[in-house]
Amino acid sequence: MTTLTTVDADRAAALSAADASGRVDEAFLGRFDEQFPRLHGLFTRLYGERPDGQEQLAQIVTLASASWNARPLDLRVRGSRHAEDPDWFQSERMLGGVCYVDRYAGNLAGIREQIPYFRELGLSYLHLMPLFDAPEGPNDGGYAVSSYRRVNPSLGSMAQLADLAAELRLAGISLVLDFIFNHTSDEHEWARKAYAGDPEFEDFYLIFPDRTMPDAYEETTREIFPEDHPGSFVQLEDGRWVWATFHSYQWDLNYANPAVFRAMAGEMLFLANQGVEVLRMDAVAFIWKRLGTPCESLPEAHLLLQAFNALLAMAAPGTLFKSEAIVHPDEVLTYVSPGECQLSYNPLQMALTWEALATRDARLLQQALERRHDLPPHTAWVNYVRSHDDIGWTFADEDAAELGIDGYAHRRFLNDFYVGRHEGTFARGVPFQENPRTGDARVAGTTASLAGVEAGDPGGEDRVVLAHAIALSTGGIPLLYLGDEVAQLNDYTYTDDPDRRSDSRWVHRGNRPRDRYAERLTADTAAGRVHRRLTKLISARAGAAEFAGNALVGFRTPDPAVLGYQRPGEGTVVLVLANVGDEQSLIDPLTLSGFDRMAHDLVLGVDVDLDEGLALPPHGFVWLRVRPL
Ligand code: GLC
Repeated sequence: MTTLTTVDADRAAALSAADASGRVDEAFLGRFDEQFPRLHGLFTRLYGERPDGQEQLAQIVTLASASWNARPLDLRVRGSRHAEDPDWFQSERMLGGVCYVDRYAGNLAGIREQIPYFRELGLSYLHLMPLFDAPEGPNDGGYAVSSYRRVNPSLGSMAQLADLAAELRLAGISLVLDFIFNHTSDEHEWARKAYAGDPEFEDFYLIFPDRTMPDAYEETTREIFPEDHPGSFVQLEDGRWVWATFHSYQWDLNYANPAVFRAMAGEMLFLANQGVEVLRMDAVAFIWKRLGTPCESLPEAHLLLQAFNALLAMAAPGTLFKSEAIVHPDEVLTYVSPGECQLSYNPLQMALTWEALATRDARLLQQALERRHDLPPHTAWVNYVRSHDDIGWTFADEDAAELGIDGYAHRRFLNDFYVGRHEGTFARGVPFQENPRTGDARVAGTTASLAGVEAGDPGGEDRVVLAHAIALSTGGIPLLYLGDEVAQLNDYTYTDDPDRRSDSRWVHRGNRPRDRYAERLTADTAAGRVHRRLTKLISARAGAAEFAGNALVGFRTPDPAVLGYQRPGEGTVVLVLANVGDEQSLIDPLTLSGFDRMAHDLVLGVDVDLDEGLALPPHGFVWLRVRPL
């Protein structure tokens, strides 16, 4: 066993190990030469002192070369096309959808049957929620993985998944799957071996004989799922303690051990070879732990992601990472770069859209768009109205303070508002992970239920459309939670299911609402109206090149209820004005006088004379193509 030495020596050792176990082909070699120095540097920083450093690195390179050799030809071709065009996902036609396989379509065969609908909707990206083998009973909606190489048998097989990925590709849709790499389920083979006392696998997790270390770590860590267990550790039946950030059956992996990195790299490359084009990097902020710190977003978390990225670039070029960091906006940004995660959820825009709808005041969202929207080149936001998870109010307190808003009190208000505790609220949400000790909570609910459709609020449908009009027009990849386009409501039956009862997020993860889909072409139903308006927006967006990319410039009007921004194109600009208030807003001609008088409304398809000013109805918006003077 040797520790890492120089790039050249370690390069030679890695190549000869890869060579000994199979052919190292020319194409691989070219990319290896590009990426190895980077990988070596990262590995040295992470594992430089480990006696098995060089050997683990050599094994990883062997794995990467073997994985490339096994990579299907069409994936090689599509991947290199994407690698050569690092902005391919920035198109105005890019549109994502997300669903649970079982809830939306029963199984993988059912998802296949939905491909015509996905095409009808215009999807080019489909995120299937975790579909791997997982414990029976509670498994966090599949986020407790027992094997990354086996599809949950109730959903289908790995071969079916690879076939589905190929069919989706033919339909122009990229398959997106989670890479749940922070933890495994306690039933994963590694966890079973660790529990049984196999020292190799004990070192895969953070297991301690007594409370000494857990107590020390918990001095500075945050409780993530306090309704499940306090602190970051859970006790095993044999009395030991294991790190479990989320549920007690989700054990965090110990990335300080390079064998864990190697093992997970193998799982990642395996998935890429099944045709997964975007890996959603689950819970990125938590992957590295250090005593005396919050154990979130540590510098090593970034080094790990970059090392995984370098490996992908070697063995599955063109595959993307999407970061799932639902943290302070400054931190969210640190994960986004071409060498780390090219895509990222935009939790700030999501949360502040809801904030604006509740307060009828768009200023905080306006400020965020002006200040926190920019991204490095070749990266993009994934903009969404809601996801399978709760809504957490992850805005920056310092931003709010500038507008005279107290972050703590405001979060309390927003929670009360969205769980229906605030007088006059239109929202029907449910609290998630309420922490009586800290007063913290998050919110669960479908878009339609949170927006007022369930409560019968007259503005409910408009708010559903308005929230999507924002997500669809700020850039990057808009992501629809499938079912929201037919105004799916909360499903309270989760409380009857003992496996789900304690996790209120199931309220917004109902089965595919067949009745609503059946009504989607019927004009006088909520499903029909929302569907018609949203599909119109989707096609208007797909026809406007200004919506590609991420460039956005704020546009302020005198009315704080009106959100405004411009999406620049060539010679033209799309001006978006959105009224989050309950009153009509009149935009005077002077405010609009920086543009050529005649504008074109992209949604209605009509010309508009800006000299007459604009009247935005309550919860109304416009997408106007204008020419700056
Ligand atoms: C991510 C998922 C969430 C899950 C958690 C643990 O945050 O989005 O649903 O509970 O990770 O895997």
